[in-house]
Amino acid sequence: MKITAEFVTSAVGAAGVPHDGLPQLALVGRSNVGKSRLINALVRQGLARTSAAPGKTRLVNVYRVAHGARPPFHLVDLPGYGFARGAKQGPTDFERLVGEYFGAVPAAALLLVDARHPGLASDRQAWAWLQSTVEAVAIVATKVDKLARGERIRALRELESVLDNAVLPVSSVTGEGLDDLWNLIDNFTTPRTTRPPDRSRPNAPKAMAPHRPPEGTANRKRSNASTWRRSKT
Ligand code: GTP
Ligand code: MG
Repeated sequence: MKITAEFVTSAVGAAGVPHDGLPQLALVGRSNVGKSRLINALVRQGLARTSAAPGKTRLVNVYRVAHGARPPFHLVDLPGYGFARGAKQGPTDFERLVGEYFGAVPAAALLLVDARHPGLASDRQAWAWLQSTVEAVAIVATKVDKLARGERIRALRELESVLDNAVLPVSSVTGEGLDDLWNLIDNFTTPRTTRPPDRSRPNAPKAMAPHRPPEGTANRKRSNASTWRRSKT
């Protein structure tokens, strides 16, 4: 399927992110977990800058992406957490910026966790925070190509147990899992009224159903949060 993608903007804060009604999907995760490279793998071009050194992405980078004939959405590359700048004085840059971003924009989120390091405290905290803040969020395990088969099964099982949620394994190097991830992204970014039924993989969206808090427990601060209400589950 044809994918078109273009860079839109680098914003220093939520105010610089487009508020034009297009659905937004933000990638959240520790520095170096592979957010930027996953964007490049998904859109099949070298749009986002990646680096072996953590802390590469320090701004909110926004890309406009269209998957086949579907309506476009904004894919948002957030700076990573766990990169120790300013950690001792109040909220980190990450917390301030990400809090601002999700407060201002009714975005869905993907939490990226490194498949090799299941159950890190920072990932567990991020997951808890996202569940209480964001309407639609799912977990993606990155860099699965770095694990041998047995290790991978163990690591994914541990991840799912610690985070108490399904986890989608992907590799930006081999391309593994990217088709399933696109199915999930299509589901997250298609407005409910126009979302076509997914006949190709009837089980995939169910297995990877986004987290939706039980009725009444969601943090519904945003008036337009219904944009992200799911039709499945
Ligand atoms: P920050 O911008 O610092 O938050 O990092 P990031 O999460 O954007 O990480 P980035 O995409 O820059 O990737 C970090 C490093 O991991 C780079 O050296 C990537 O090439 C590598 N990497 C990312 N994804 C994969 C993957 O699926 N497999 C392997 N083997 N390496 C990966
Ligand atoms: Mg990055």
